[in-house]
Amino acid sequence: MGTLHVLEHPLIIHKLTIMRERNTGSKDFRQLLNEITMLMGYELTRDFPLEDVEIDTPVAHMTAKKIKGKKVAVIPILRAGLGMVDGLLGLIPAAKVGHIGLYRDPDTHKPVEYYCKLPHDIEKRTVILCDPMLATGGSASDALSMLKAKGVMPGAIRLLCLVAAPEGVAKVQADHPDVDIYTAAMDERLNEHAYIVPGLGDAGDRLFGTK
Ligand code: PRP
Ligand code: URA
Repeated sequence: MGTLHVLEHPLIIHKLTIMRERNTGSKDFRQLLNEITMLMGYELTRDFPLEDVEIDTPVAHMTAKKIKGKKVAVIPILRAGLGMVDGLLGLIPAAKVGHIGLYRDPDTHKPVEYYCKLPHDIEKRTVILCDPMLATGGSASDALSMLKAKGVMPGAIRLLCLVAAPEGVAKVQADHPDVDIYTAAMDERLNEHAYIVPGLGDAGDRLFGTK
């Protein structure tokens, strides 16, 4: 089963609390999501392997280290995942960006696919799939299946979210046991509308001011 990483750094907890507050506006919500994504991205990349490289500093020759291995693709689930792209590109500027468009049907709460555009060499990359909300887990699970259908290797995908519900974590772990999940918070449960409780409401609407 994939590992669940709950990244409980004080800065992340503090910033998430401000995001959760109902009176926090879109400008601050966007800024805080960007800041938290950078803090989480730092932890998500902690085990990226290094390799020796020979370099010359202005003073001496040395054997130094650089990140080894596969290049990275950042894949946001539209819309709310877009709020995590800039933070990840700030850390990994050479990453390519793909997009997966899914929305939850308001009645069934099941994801509906409407867009998919991925880097042409996606199967050679380490993939960071990002979406702030992991509620029922339907959207993340479908997006992970789409990535695998396009050839991404098992074990090459990490899921980065912000707030997760136990139901969503259980679904991703059952459907995709090779995927590690990184979240800032594990909340209590889902309500009758499949919203996370206490959560932060509708992440896409709060990010883009559409409500
Ligand atoms: C939200 C959120 C996730 C999904 C999570 O998107 O950004 O993609 O719901 O729910 P799930 O785990 O139950 O699938 P939404 O469908 O509201 O679309 P939007 O981002 O375009 O608003
Ligand atoms: N999508 C959201 O944006 N928020 C939730 O709480 C659940 C799904």
